[in-house]
Amino acid sequence: MPHMTVTLAHEADFAGWRTATRSLAGRHTPPADITWQIAGGTESATLPAPDPEAARFTVPRAVMELAAIMVQSALPDRFTLAYTLVYDHVMGMPTGEEAADRMARARDDVITHTRHLRDAFREALSGHDGTTPYQGRMETPDLVPESNARFLTLQRSFAPWQLDMPDRTLRWTGHEMLREALGQAPRPLDPTSLPPPALPMVPDLDITRITSLRAVALAAKTCLICPMAAHATQTVFGEGRETARMMFVGEQPGDIEDRAGRPFVGPAGQLFDRALHEAGIGRDDTYVTNTVKHFKFRRTPTRRIHEKAGPAEIAACAPWLAAERRIIRPAVVVMLGVTAASALLGRAVTISRERSRLIALEDGSDGLVTVHPSYLLRLPDEAARAREYDRFVNDLRLAASRLAPAVT
Ligand code: URA
Repeated sequence: MPHMTVTLAHEADFAGWRTATRSLAGRHTPPADITWQIAGGTESATLPAPDPEAARFTVPRAVMELAAIMVQSALPDRFTLAYTLVYDHVMGMPTGEEAADRMARARDDVITHTRHLRDAFREALSGHDGTTPYQGRMETPDLVPESNARFLTLQRSFAPWQLDMPDRTLRWTGHEMLREALGQAPRPLDPTSLPPPALPMVPDLDITRITSLRAVALAAKTCLICPMAAHATQTVFGEGRETARMMFVGEQPGDIEDRAGRPFVGPAGQLFDRALHEAGIGRDDTYVTNTVKHFKFRRTPTRRIHEKAGPAEIAACAPWLAAERRIIRPAVVVMLGVTAASALLGRAVTISRERSRLIALEDGSDGLVTVHPSYLLRLPDEAARAREYDRFVNDLRLAASRLAPAVT
């Protein structure tokens, strides 16, 4: 088998490593046949092309988590070790004792350093006046600062910060993450290319403190809390007017939304747009979002088939939806389908029983439950489809009537 060289975008390029690993482990390429290197100043990342002949495989979550931790370690052969872990799993072989020992030690170091970095950052901030950009120094020999960049950014509510390490600087400008290795110009670092931090972000993440919708959207875009984030193309956050008085909540992005990064732009979205128009509602005046911000699907050889979001995904995304409602403060919230209705009402919902009437929500807004547009698309009978579509438009009109200026 020819020797392969994989060039990753940067020192902690977990996304690049994962793409290459999928392809190479699927072709059963032994770890010894691969050289992992980092792109320099002039050359750019090069990953192996996807191979249609490569075997598809799944890796238990614990294996991927350990691989992600390896990528953050200070070991010079960390990408090889992480690959070996996956390769051994695919081949059904136990990982050698020496490699397993090194991985266990590297894992403990990364977890200790993560804890240390977070504690030190929090402590430094408690004595910081918050008006000037925070600048700190860390001696960590590994990629723990990069992997915790999201966490640090959230702790500072998106205010600029800078961490100087002996060989590099990591800087959040308030808009983008920059990394400057010794003697190199600063380069933007895409947070979605980084490994998830060794410790979960959830207990430290205080979304309720974020007051700008843009900042919440940015936090959600780099959220890796639930496993769906690893499979979906991207987070699909809500979009629309920040001062909207009407908010629509669907279930989760579909296949097209997942690729486009925008809610309700596929077939259900087109039907939704038509119904909005007929009800006299301009989509631009509203805010449209989903209960769950990632596409959940099952892969077949030719397609990605939608799978219903479950309680775990709904719970993981609940803080994002709560933040959208808190910041936008709509007067009317239209729940499109059972997932949105039960998530927002906090109980089991039967659409036929609860639709088409206004329900007082705990924040003082009016809720309205109606069908999901994709339900209308699925109805096989044309007459039923026309009838149900009219009912849907009437529900939208009822919701809009709450916004009509009072006539005296
Ligand atoms: N279905 C949804 O619930 N949301 C979308 O964004 C698209 C389809």
